[in-house]
Amino acid sequence: MEMIKPPAETLYEKELRALREEDKGKRPHQWLLSPAYVRDFIIGRERPALLDGEKVSITRKFYGNDVLIERAIVTLAGNRGLMLVGEPGTAKTMLSELLSAAVSGTSLNTIQGTAGTTEDMIKYSWNYAMLLDQGPSEAALVPSPLYAGMKQGIITRFEEITRCPSEAQDSLISVLSDKVLNIPELDGGVLFARPGFNVIATANIRDKGVNEMSGALKRRFNFETIKPVANVKLEAKIIESQARSLLLHSGVEAEVDLNAVELLATTFLELRTGLTREGYKLDIPQASMSTAEAVSVYVQSAMTSYYFEERGITLDRLVQNLLGTIVKENDKDLSILKAYFSKVVKERAGQDEIWKEYYSERKWIG
Ligand SMILES: Nc1ncnc2c1ncn2[C@@H]1O[C@H](COP(=O)(O)OP(=O)(O)O)[C@@H](O)[C@H]1O
Ligand SMILES: [Mg+2]
Repeated sequence: MEMIKPPAETLYEKELRALREEDKGKRPHQWLLSPAYVRDFIIGRERPALLDGEKVSITRKFYGNDVLIERAIVTLAGNRGLMLVGEPGTAKTMLSELLSAAVSGTSLNTIQGTAGTTEDMIKYSWNYAMLLDQGPSEAALVPSPLYAGMKQGIITRFEEITRCPSEAQDSLISVLSDKVLNIPELDGGVLFARPGFNVIATANIRDKGVNEMSGALKRRFNFETIKPVANVKLEAKIIESQARSLLLHSGVEAEVDLNAVELLATTFLELRTGLTREGYKLDIPQASMSTAEAVSVYVQSAMTSYYFEERGITLDRLVQNLLGTIVKENDKDLSILKAYFSKVVKERAGQDEIWKEYYSERKWIG
């Protein structure tokens, strides 16, 4: 079946199967892979795995701190939940999906936190027709992803937990500390979590509408902070591989242009950190300059060139989309982008062909 965005377990089905076949390591209860194999799945390895005699390469999916990945995996095998925090677009969601897919075989057992999330949505609710007809019964209970995770012994993902009101968040406390959920409406109703159950929560530290998390809940989690990528080569690599797979997936037959990718990676990294490679200081835009945004600017530009000009990505399209991404929140960001072009890009234009071409497209930002 075709899907716009297949879940990690579908996208990497072959890799996961091949790794499972090979894995002889010790596994925590109910885990589909041993911790070392979960790590290999996420950060890749040189040696391919074998599946029915066929070599399957184990690709790197998350670029960054490999030790953090090991810590995260060990947390999942223990008593506390895993909390991934960081700026938007640092691959927190992606990492939580990869971990769930590798450990439990599914990344779909997920609660999406919003301002409207209630305790019922986190624990369980009722099929009201059945409830009125027969009274409370197990059949009338509608399980939440948290309930399902406890019952099946799999991971429950909790996206954007700090968007939920603090009282709703706190309904996780007893589940995480005692691994049990009381169902007072049912006679003797108690759900004990099966081994294999745990929670991976994600939280953005910068978005508006973020609620405080209580100290009691914080103590039930191990926190891992995901930092934005801090080097142009790595950033370019992520943009390249993500853009390639997104374009392929949208049916756009266009080669990824490595020069354009490097230009974009440089611009994003410099504006995000406020420092150019020559060592000049820059103002930092308010808009998110995450790697995810860079991927989106590239893909958007490549698709525009493909559909309207039937050609590969052009720098005018790139600058147009850059403008759209950076200047969505306020006008000050526009002057920061202009200053970047009139100082940094201009200086490099004298030494380098592609920067010269980039500079000549500054007309799009006024
Ligand atoms: N360190 C990284 N390694 C691999 N991909 C990354 C990395 N940082 C960002 N990305 C890209 O950014 C995308 C957005 O990540 P996402 O998981 O939605 O971010 P978050 O949940 O932190 O806002 C990822 O799907 C991936 O394409
Ligand atoms: Mg996310």
